[in-house]
Amino acid sequence: MDLDEAMQERRSIRGFTDDPVSRELLEEILTLANHAPSSMNTQPWHFHVLTGEVLENVRKGNTERMLGGVPPSREIPAHGKYEGVHRDRQVEIAKQLFAAMGIERHDAERRQDWVMRGFRQFDAPVSVVVTYDRALNDHGPVAIFDAGAATYGLVLAAWSRGLGAVINGQGIMQSPVVRECADIPEDQVILTCVALGWPDATFEANAVKSLRRETGEVATFQGFDEAGQGRRTG
Ligand SMILES: Cc1cc2nc3c(=O)[nH]c(=O)nc-3n(C[C@H](O)[C@H](O)[C@H](O)COP(=O)(O)O)c2cc1C
Repeated sequence: MDLDEAMQERRSIRGFTDDPVSRELLEEILTLANHAPSSMNTQPWHFHVLTGEVLENVRKGNTERMLGGVPPSREIPAHGKYEGVHRDRQVEIAKQLFAAMGIERHDAERRQDWVMRGFRQFDAPVSVVVTYDRALNDHGPVAIFDAGAATYGLVLAAWSRGLGAVINGQGIMQSPVVRECADIPEDQVILTCVALGWPDATFEANAVKSLRRETGEVATFQGFDEAGQGRRTG
């Protein structure tokens, strides 16, 4: 698969088969993700790859705490409630996903079940917890940018090998649980996790393609000549 195709076709995958994922394949993907650029080559990211009982313990701890009313506890600032166009886009993808899954607007039980799936990392066979070096916390948000770039690389490399992934903020909503189960060193900050596995073709939400604005809406171009060329002057 070429890069353009992977970038265009990739979508978040939230339903997985029981097929196992080999450590060798995961190492290949992480080797590629590790090629991400970073501010002044700081390379602040770490990947903690969880499966089996370790991941099951994270799921259990996450679920118990969320159901028990323990407030979310993440190590990066919470994004809070989105408003305006951002809220609109959030609602848009939720509507697409619920429509695909046949979850009605007023079906509180199935909506809650969907949310709980997110806390269980969509029952994926593998979860990659992405962290960055705590020492960079006093250097502004750039380490988060760098680790985010590496995370996108991970997702694309997975996709191009037929593996499905969803970046899953819900999975680290109870970060103390993740930290303990995955034995994350204190000098790292938990950023997010990525649920990974072989896509279940019968899981309707996996077909959902989120919408994007036209390029003309998200990009502006300045200083191009009449032929539309960007060139050096002087
Ligand atoms: C930082 C981040 C956190 C995310 N957390 C979740 C999550 O907790 N649950 C979920 O279902 N999707 C999550 N997603 C996936 C987004 O919902 C998804 O990327 C977006 O709707 C666009 O859809 P696409 O990935 O299919 O293009 C997250 C994505 C990012 C980048």
